[in-house]
Amino acid sequence: MITIGLLGCGNIGRVIAKGQENFKITAVFDVVFERAEEFGREFGATPYSDFTAFLKEPTDIIVEAASVSAATAYAEEVLLAGKDIVIMSVGALADISFREALIMIARENKRKIHIPSGAIMGLDNIRVGQISNVDKFVLRTTKNPKSLSREATEKTCIFTGKAFDCVHQYPKNTNVAESLSIACGREVDVELWMDPNEDRNMHEIFFEGEFGEAYVRVRNVPSPANPATSYLAALSILTLLRNLDNPLVIGA
Ligand SMILES: NC(=O)c1ccc[n+]([C@@H]2O[C@H](COP(=O)([O-])OP(=O)(O)OC[C@H]3O[C@@H](n4cnc5c(N)ncnc54)[C@H](O)[C@@H]3O)[C@@H](O)[C@H]2O)c1
Repeated sequence: MITIGLLGCGNIGRVIAKGQENFKITAVFDVVFERAEEFGREFGATPYSDFTAFLKEPTDIIVEAASVSAATAYAEEVLLAGKDIVIMSVGALADISFREALIMIARENKRKIHIPSGAIMGLDNIRVGQISNVDKFVLRTTKNPKSLSREATEKTCIFTGKAFDCVHQYPKNTNVAESLSIACGREVDVELWMDPNEDRNMHEIFFEGEFGEAYVRVRNVPSPANPATSYLAALSILTLLRNLDNPLVIGA
């Protein structure tokens, strides 16, 4: 049985806990300690208010499902403690010097940093961008204004630019852009739209290069507990965790 330390007892954390099968969440940490306590009671895990004590619990892997600031604050410490980490708030890796430092620490400590596919599909073969020419690489994200905590009466483009710049303005909406950029080995061009007539979180990927061309469109159902998070993202990390001990690795 794989043992997990969960950082962030929110919407994604709960989907993971409800899907426990070949893994068990044994320790939990949340900036709001009451959430960790409640989670611990419900799912039989030990709640911690002190991160260092949480890390000392003998878990096999730490799962971050909290926030960009949590991933930034704790990921290095996790790897230095000799544990693998799953990072859900991948927007944290938009800071290239932070990302490179993290990879170096992981390499030195022979640890892995897992990034789930999250709220998109197609991340697997986007990686051909690492070894072949890419002519066009665009992510167009369209959300209902409510998902962005904004208001709009018509479809409006609110950001165009690179993933790195998007993270400062829309940290909760940069995860997909950052995952794509890391997978491809080059920064994706981002367009962020809000549309009052769109009730789903939509991501369109336009990818052209030496291989040919691809268009991927995902229309995600928002998570009932947190409309800013697509339900697919929670299912994606759960799938990753269920496959940790599977000898057959597909689409990686
Ligand atoms: N990779 C992707 O495609 C993708 C998709 C959706 C969401 N996400 C990210 O996953 C993360 C979790 O999403 P969620 O829907 O579960 O969010 P949520 O708000 O429902 O839950 C987050 C929990 O983490 C806790 N938390 C936040 N910052 C913390 C910190 N610094 N230290 C300790 N605890 C902290 C909060 O108190 C909360 O209980 C978010 O950062 C979100 O942006 C990634």
